[in-house]
Amino acid sequence: MRVLVTGGAGYIGGVVAAQLVAAGHDVVVLDDLSTGHADAVPDGADFVKGTLRDCAAEVLSDGVEAVLHFAAKSLVGESVADPARYWSGNLGPSVALLEAMREMHVRKIVFSSTAAVYGEPERTPITETDPARPTNPYGATKIAVDTTLSEFARLYGFGAISLRYFNVAGAHQGANGRWQGERHSPETHLIPNVLAAATSAQAGEGRQVKIFGDDYPTPDGTCIRDYIHVTDLADAHLRALDATRPGEHRVYNLGNGAGFSVREVIEVCREVTGADIGADVEARRPGDPAVLVASSAKIQAELGWHATRDLRAMAADAWQFTQSRRPR
Ligand SMILES: NC(=O)c1ccc[n+]([C@@H]2O[C@H](COP(=O)([O-])OP(=O)(O)OC[C@H]3O[C@@H](n4cnc5c(N)ncnc54)[C@H](O)[C@@H]3O)[C@@H](O)[C@H]2O)c1
Repeated sequence: MRVLVTGGAGYIGGVVAAQLVAAGHDVVVLDDLSTGHADAVPDGADFVKGTLRDCAAEVLSDGVEAVLHFAAKSLVGESVADPARYWSGNLGPSVALLEAMREMHVRKIVFSSTAAVYGEPERTPITETDPARPTNPYGATKIAVDTTLSEFARLYGFGAISLRYFNVAGAHQGANGRWQGERHSPETHLIPNVLAAATSAQAGEGRQVKIFGDDYPTPDGTCIRDYIHVTDLADAHLRALDATRPGEHRVYNLGNGAGFSVREVIEVCREVTGADIGADVEARRPGDPAVLVASSAKIQAELGWHATRDLRAMAADAWQFTQSRRPR
């Protein structure tokens, strides 16, 4: 099947595109490289550099049968500072994509939503029926796209699945042996930042990891978050692609069911890297809930998916990626 991967030059889209190629699909990536990297597009995939608004219709017209939609801006802080940029950068291009799909008679879509749509949950683990009350414009734009997908399913017979997840981590080794991992700028995710501190420690420099609050009601006092390995995530996307049904928009949470504390993540990174990673405790950040963990019971029951890679695998693979990019 010819599949369009929007944002396939980014971290997750690049890994999913590689998995699709490996599974025998004919893949075309559309990415404007606003935050992505051309060399993240896997071997064997076609690449069109451009925006969804300008190029989606043309790319879709070339025999595309399904879309995996990753292209988005995804920095929570940036979305708070400049909400309009997120509405025009996330909702606008997504509607343009859906409209192009409608015109080109492409009806299957899997969308990268986010567990940020749930805001500060009343209970954990979070299930799909819990209220979506995003606490930032990033999450609000994602729930707006979810709503649009429900409407396009109802009105135009789209078969859509939204996958909602928290922190994606780890790296993926492609068929050519090359590691694909996170290259965000700025990097706001914990594991790459802890590994950057490990690199710094090995170089004899003193970069410290910041722990925002160690007085939360959790076993070690630090916040607990859900992490999922990017390869497990890619597997969920491939299952979702096969599971779309005309006229239905379904939502699935993806999580590892348990979550890990900030201190646990740092400790595992210490073990994996052998580096003496230093950590400073700072004040809590406003709006950081103690525990954010998603339930994957629905996708497990309906699509047979569950996370298979643990925190150690995420840290170890991300470390492999970090090391593969070191100058030799
Ligand atoms: N990384 C995570 O932990 C995480 C968690 C939950 C949800 N998500 C979602 O997953 C998706 C991918 O995240 P990522 O971490 O790979 O981000 P990323 O920034 O690495 O990838 C996004 C890609 O989309 C491209 N892009 C953005 N706007 C575009 C547009 N209008 N037209 C064409 N290309 C465009 C960028 O150049 C980039 O290559 C996003 O939708 C994000 O909201 C990510």
